[in-house]
Amino acid sequence: MTMVAKIFVTRRLPGEALDFLRSRYSVEVWDSQDKITRKDLLSRIKDIDALISLLSDKIDREVIDSAPNLKIIANYAVGYDNINVEYATSKGIYVTNTPGVLTDATSELAWALLFAVARRVVEADMFTREGRFKGWEPELFLGKEVTGSKIGVIGAGRIGRSFMEKGAGFDIKWCYYSKTRKPDVEERFNARYMDTLNMFKECDFVSLHVPLTSETYHMIGKEHFDRAKGLILINTARGPVVDEREMIKALRDGRLLGAGLDVYENEPEVPHELRTMKNVVLLPHIGSATHRTREKMAMMVAQNVDAALSGKVPMNLVNPEVLKK
Ligand code: NAP
Ligand code: GLV
Ligand code: GLV
Repeated sequence: MTMVAKIFVTRRLPGEALDFLRSRYSVEVWDSQDKITRKDLLSRIKDIDALISLLSDKIDREVIDSAPNLKIIANYAVGYDNINVEYATSKGIYVTNTPGVLTDATSELAWALLFAVARRVVEADMFTREGRFKGWEPELFLGKEVTGSKIGVIGAGRIGRSFMEKGAGFDIKWCYYSKTRKPDVEERFNARYMDTLNMFKECDFVSLHVPLTSETYHMIGKEHFDRAKGLILINTARGPVVDEREMIKALRDGRLLGAGLDVYENEPEVPHELRTMKNVVLLPHIGSATHRTREKMAMMVAQNVDAALSGKVPMNLVNPEVLKK
């Protein structure tokens, strides 16, 4: 008798993806109102073959060691900084992510934040709801104009490029920084390659699109904010890419005119002072949160798991070195 492979999912996922997996495997889902605790995670995965994780689940050595039969960790996210990939690789475990299907949803949210901060949309909405709109005023809620502005993109990958594409029509002067120079980006968007310090000196807006790695941790800090003159920072990448304490100081004293944030340094904690500031728009990490995208992500995760459990190499492998093991 062949054993049916076991999958554990740390949260219910939208769409049909889990039903597809249930038709072939034994699937257990953490089906509670609250996020799974570490203790529960460790106790539920002892005999599983596949783990479907969220970006908020820390998949470290201890977790990996608790699941000796594990063949795949399929993250329900494109970022996988929550997983100790090196250790998983050493154990011969596939790690997969969900690239591409969330690119448009995330880049459009970066634009939503940019416009919301530049044109003070949330602040003005609150003012209106509070019944304080007493008539048109020449100087009511003056903001920063987006059309014709200079925008810097840090990380010209899938989402960074998509963000630039969506700016067509706003007459943006683009500059970008990425690990490698991209002649096609320079040509397509007439974009200048620029180091991040100069970018903070010259730009009206900077939008972050790098993954969180040891290299990008705190890549934006005091020396950047010291050069900024009324810049607006947009972060839909990962909180720890920015030194959050220094960002708050710069928002307080005006070196930064504002910030649009979907991510924070110690999620889900959002610093109290940030929550009292009028020049920020704060979102609860919803970059990929559209019905369409979240369903596609779930299907992608299911296909990766199905491949790994049927002896195939999953499509969205982030640790190809594992194949050499
Ligand atoms: P991607 O296609 O891999 O793009 C990331 C880009 O960052 C790459 O092009 C890479 O540049 C660049 N990069 C990496 N390390 C760098 C460094 N040290 N310095 C400068 N550039 C560096 O990934 P993506 O699909 O666009 O996603 C990007 C990130 O967005 C994810 O990792 C995730 O953390 C975040 N994200 C957030 C949300 C949300 O809900 N807010 C949703 C989706 C994704 P090169 O090409 O030059 O090597
Ligand atoms: C979301 O933050 C992701 O990395 O998919
Ligand atoms: C504003 O509503 C205008 O007509 O200029």
